[in-house]
Amino acid sequence: MALSSGFYSRYNANTMTELPRAKTIIEPFRIKSVEPIRLLSTAERQRCIEEAGYNLFKLRAQDVTFDLLTDSGTSAMSARQWAGIMVGDESYAGSPSFQRFEAVVQGLTGLANVIPTHQGRSAEFLLMQAMGLTKRDVVIGNTHFDTTRANIEHSGAQALDLPCKESADTQSEAPFKGNIDLDALAETLKKDSRKVRLVIITVTNNSVGGQPVSMENVRRARAIVKPYGIPLFLDVARFAENAFFIKKREPGFADRNVRDIAHEMFSLCDGALMSAKKDAFGNIGGFLAIADPALAETVRSQMVITEGFPTYGGLAGRDLEALAIGLEEILDEDYLTYRLRSTEYFGEGIRAAGIPVIRPIGGHAVYIDAGAALPHIPWNQFPGQSLSVALYTGIGIRSVEIGSIMLGARDPVTGDERPAPQELVRLAIPRRVYTQSHVDYMVEMIGHLAGRLRELKGYAFTYQAPVLRHFTARFRPLE
Ligand code: F0G
Repeated sequence: MALSSGFYSRYNANTMTELPRAKTIIEPFRIKSVEPIRLLSTAERQRCIEEAGYNLFKLRAQDVTFDLLTDSGTSAMSARQWAGIMVGDESYAGSPSFQRFEAVVQGLTGLANVIPTHQGRSAEFLLMQAMGLTKRDVVIGNTHFDTTRANIEHSGAQALDLPCKESADTQSEAPFKGNIDLDALAETLKKDSRKVRLVIITVTNNSVGGQPVSMENVRRARAIVKPYGIPLFLDVARFAENAFFIKKREPGFADRNVRDIAHEMFSLCDGALMSAKKDAFGNIGGFLAIADPALAETVRSQMVITEGFPTYGGLAGRDLEALAIGLEEILDEDYLTYRLRSTEYFGEGIRAAGIPVIRPIGGHAVYIDAGAALPHIPWNQFPGQSLSVALYTGIGIRSVEIGSIMLGARDPVTGDERPAPQELVRLAIPRRVYTQSHVDYMVEMIGHLAGRLRELKGYAFTYQAPVLRHFTARFRPLE
């Protein structure tokens, strides 16, 4: 006892004032369970990519060192989520895991009707189906994600993108390049509002570089659509990253917490669709949250045919449990600080190596402007493809081309290729998976590759399917 009281009195006499704030942002977690990653030689990777017909989707994942193909479903779950997996209740109907999931989504969104789905695109499908869209209808978005567009078009309706003007300039530092173009929205409704059945704002806007949408933009979009009685939905796959960007960049939000900001954004919409494979740290899952009970009832009655009973929506009870926990964890501001800063750090490193990237760096991915990086390769020889093959063969990184292979098309009559607006390569960062030394390694190696870009050659198709050709195409390198 004497010893401890002596200790405390010495300690009190020397109470320490705070040290300066560290400049280094750390991963706010430690690692309990690990997976090996393999470092193949360049010759081995060369063989793998040849066998894959130079299509990165056809690689075996175990032959990839850094898998940056997507941030979707690739998160590391936490110890709490894994514990949730064990207590998940597998009752067919009315499982307590559903009740927990429902309560978390209701608390976060303020939307009463919560319907789980097996992933984001099934929520899209169910919503478009329940709205009974026809070929006379239009669904407007800031930029519809591919699967959203596909589900709108599958219903017969037209998907119309109205991205804000700043998004076209990849080098502008505008803070909210994910915004919807409010003037174009107002104009379109003024011309013919009867055709427009739904507006969807995707936060963050994946298709223009993971760029955020401001609260002001959503508020004004709501004010524009409201008099017409057109519902406003949010695609909230990356809602927490978007809310943290608002906190950092939008005047008046610096002192608000992220949950509050997200809650305010949800209060502006009539419903939300989520792929829970992103900002819920889920390996699978999604949901629809809807204010209108009649629309929700239509979804519930239709979904039984494909997704399952409305309290599990194609998921296991254990998945719902893990998602409920993930939706709380994602709001941790130490995590979000690390998340946005580490993505930015990666992008800054690539840019410092002399490779142009979309500015500002988005939340979940770095987008390389391959058209600008490889000016000697014309669009119809696919510079994005060339760079992504080089990133794999040289470094072991799997990325994805978002250029004239994914978004272009072959004219069915003339056989000519049509270009995409930009030739990009996306490096998406799985959540809580790679460490700073992984990033430093990739940046160092990208620096070596940057000196060799002139040596890279274009590619030509040797096989392409009529739809979604990027998944299954085969290529040959040009001489
Ligand atoms: N909405 C957005 C904004 C998305 O990014 C995605 C998927 C979806 C909807 C569809 O969700 O995959 O669960 O069916 N994006 C992934 C990606 C595939 O790599 O960006 P899903």
